[in-house]
Amino acid sequence: MKWRILSKLRVAKLRRYVPRVLFLVYFGLVGFALFNYRSHCIETMPNSIIELSKLDHSDVGRCKLEFDKLGDADVDIFGEPTEDSIVAENPHIEKGGTWEPSDCRSWQRIAVIIPYRDRLHHLHILLRRLHPMLKLQKIAYKIFVIEQAGTDKFNRGKLMNVGYLEALRLGHFDCMVFQDVDLLPEDNRNLYLCDEYARHLASAIDEMRYHVMYYNYAGGVIAMNRHNFRRINGYSNSYWGWGNEDDDFSARIQESGLLLTRPPAHIGRFKMVRHTKETRSEHGNEMFLGWKKRWPRDGLNDPVGMNYTVKEVTEGRLYTKVLVDIGKPPASMDVYMSDHSNDVSIWWFLWYYYP
Ligand code: UDP
Ligand code: BGC
Ligand code: MN
Repeated sequence: MKWRILSKLRVAKLRRYVPRVLFLVYFGLVGFALFNYRSHCIETMPNSIIELSKLDHSDVGRCKLEFDKLGDADVDIFGEPTEDSIVAENPHIEKGGTWEPSDCRSWQRIAVIIPYRDRLHHLHILLRRLHPMLKLQKIAYKIFVIEQAGTDKFNRGKLMNVGYLEALRLGHFDCMVFQDVDLLPEDNRNLYLCDEYARHLASAIDEMRYHVMYYNYAGGVIAMNRHNFRRINGYSNSYWGWGNEDDDFSARIQESGLLLTRPPAHIGRFKMVRHTKETRSEHGNEMFLGWKKRWPRDGLNDPVGMNYTVKEVTEGRLYTKVLVDIGKPPASMDVYMSDHSNDVSIWWFLWYYYP
């Protein structure tokens, strides 16, 4: 009896306090977010990249763009284009998936780097969209598909690093656009150019209700000039399976003092071709906690992590394919994570995702 009265009292107390605690936690988090808000992500108009370049380069002979006339495009994510149909619709494409304007000098030479395995349907849909768009933007470009050989876990970050090195081995490029195979730019004004920072081109994906999912999100499509990519040591090679490698990359950008620039949401619109979602790699978040400690050696400059073998380079009609053996994930992720003493704090982690 006594016990029952006691527990009733307890329930009453809980009823009173729980909403208060929740209220405090909620406003605490909002306060924390406001306090922590740092403006290292900024919106800039795509044509400002060209306007700013004009300040220090001579623009004689450079391509002139009627930016406002580029407009948006009808993007079809359901069709089944074939290589033949894309070739027929785009007679400008040269061997290896390359093109440059013949009557003016493009502002930058870009390499589009697509990490890839087993998504041919998506690839065709993307190529049908990219080739005409890049021509309209008067950009000198070449498209590289970096295909991971074998059936081990996919490693998006390492494929980006391989793409960077192989593209520069095969040609001269100022700017790399790292592009997921299933994302289609909806607006021709979203110029595939690099600025002096890191440019997150996919600032509004339909799947994310045309918003960035979180402030520091840097996945999907991101453009970075070749100097900055080297300077931040590229991507981490250590994320096998889905998730967090783009967060690690974003953290590198931020910690190097580079801004993350984005086109305004009405221009940075992308459609994602529907596909089944992968589940997050079980060690992703834990690995990310150790990102900072690994950063100096884990990336482009790591001779061990960057061990790979190019099995085949094919200059196709629509793209250059680099088939690459990037090795296997280690038997246990402990090689990356046995020592947690230098991990970033849980506060940093929360602040990263919920600033
Ligand atoms: N990817 C691929 N084959 C795979 C897994 C991933 O080609 O089996 C590439 C592809 O470019 C894809 C990107 O990695 O767009 C990101 O993977 P996914 O689309 O599964 O992730 P999402 O961003 O949709 O969560
Ligand atoms: C993952 C990222 C992913 C993002 C959007 C995050 O939780 O860590 O890798 O790109 O969600 O899906
Ligand atoms: Mn996808």
